[in-house]
Amino acid sequence: MNFKVATWVECVHCARKYDIGELRYNCDCGGILDVRRDLSAIDGQALKQTWENRWGMKRGAMSSGVWRYKELILDLPDDRIITRQEGNTRMYDAGLAGKYAGLKNFLLKHEGENPTGSFKDRGMTCGTTAAMMYHATSVACASTGNTSASMASYAAVSGLKSIIFIPEGKIAYGKLAQALAFGGKTLQIEGNFDDAMSLVQDVCRELNIYLLNSINPFRIEGQKAIGFEILQQLDWEVPDWFVIPGGNLGNNSALSKGLEELYALGIINKIPRIAVIQASGSAPLYKMWKNKTPFEAVKNPETIATAIKIGNPVSWEKTLRGLEWCNGVVEEVSEQEIMDAKAMVDAAGIGAEPASCCSVAGAKKLVDAGVIDPEAKVVGILTGNVLKDPDAVIGYHKNELANKGIVGTYANRPVIIKPTVDAVKKALGR
Ligand code: F0G
Repeated sequence: MNFKVATWVECVHCARKYDIGELRYNCDCGGILDVRRDLSAIDGQALKQTWENRWGMKRGAMSSGVWRYKELILDLPDDRIITRQEGNTRMYDAGLAGKYAGLKNFLLKHEGENPTGSFKDRGMTCGTTAAMMYHATSVACASTGNTSASMASYAAVSGLKSIIFIPEGKIAYGKLAQALAFGGKTLQIEGNFDDAMSLVQDVCRELNIYLLNSINPFRIEGQKAIGFEILQQLDWEVPDWFVIPGGNLGNNSALSKGLEELYALGIINKIPRIAVIQASGSAPLYKMWKNKTPFEAVKNPETIATAIKIGNPVSWEKTLRGLEWCNGVVEEVSEQEIMDAKAMVDAAGIGAEPASCCSVAGAKKLVDAGVIDPEAKVVGILTGNVLKDPDAVIGYHKNELANKGIVGTYANRPVIIKPTVDAVKKALGR
């Protein structure tokens, strides 16, 4: 494989380099891999101008909010790129959710506006393009739902067979529906996400199937574009903070890696801080970070934010590297904090699935704790669409989540009435 700029994969743990033509997900030492390129061969200012020139293109690979930045993603000819014009997502003033978090300058980047309704599409466009590059015919992933929905879609677009491993009965309905609709062979594992993740790695090795979890370094390359696009939307003015949920820990690793590359190229000249937010029932990174202890998986992860119900995240080492680079922090939020923050994101007219709202819950907690200044410029990442998990929404607003210890603090209860004007008047308090 020939790229314009020298490109290779490199172990996060021991820095050993491998030829990019060699298909592998791990180093011989067991560490996970990064895609690396010779940044010294790239002119940052010229690159920035190229990206500006591509902004708003109407069709083709360069209209994608990932491939617009292809020089730092995967520099392939356009006809080898599998794309659904992903990215190009909006960034909203947080409105009500900003007031709730106590922030004056709070923007929410809505990655739930991607083609399959989550940020995963940014990684998947790159992952499926890599699958084609390695002449794969089948792809597989373990998933809490969004990765599988995205993979099934991109596989369908590119003519690949997709095989999905999901924890039985533990993913949101909208996501399961997508996997089935897009034709993914869906295997429901009797176990949790971590069991499925371990199984899929064995299966891919044994059956020669291309693995599309975020352990795949090309997924991470695609997801870097979230940060690139946010900065371009801000005319390259760097915010003080990014706040992002953490589950398998690929997305925050991608964000920091991308920012580090922009900084190395002089495209940005300030390092923003990143706050990774975990659900307290599934928070191995938080425990490690807070107690300064070695990484230890959480055995039976729990949370209503099923997208991030993960006890043994694969990318914790990449996350630590990123946090060190940007002086980042890790926070945990309770079930109640997640769902109340979600009620605010939803009531602001924006809407997002529970895991996404860790960004807002976490921002509020960090403002309250004096870590984030109320005047700071903060960008929260909303990772998934509100329609992904209708059960969580209805459960909260009908105040039916007592079994999970969650109260519908800001519930907007539906009312059943007789079909008469009088009943309507009564219901409206007129
Ligand atoms: N938010 C949503 C909506 C997600 O679906 C995920 C991960 C995350 C946040 C966390 O991102 O894993 O990169 O730290 N979902 C994966 C999946 C695990 O299978 O869909 P992360």
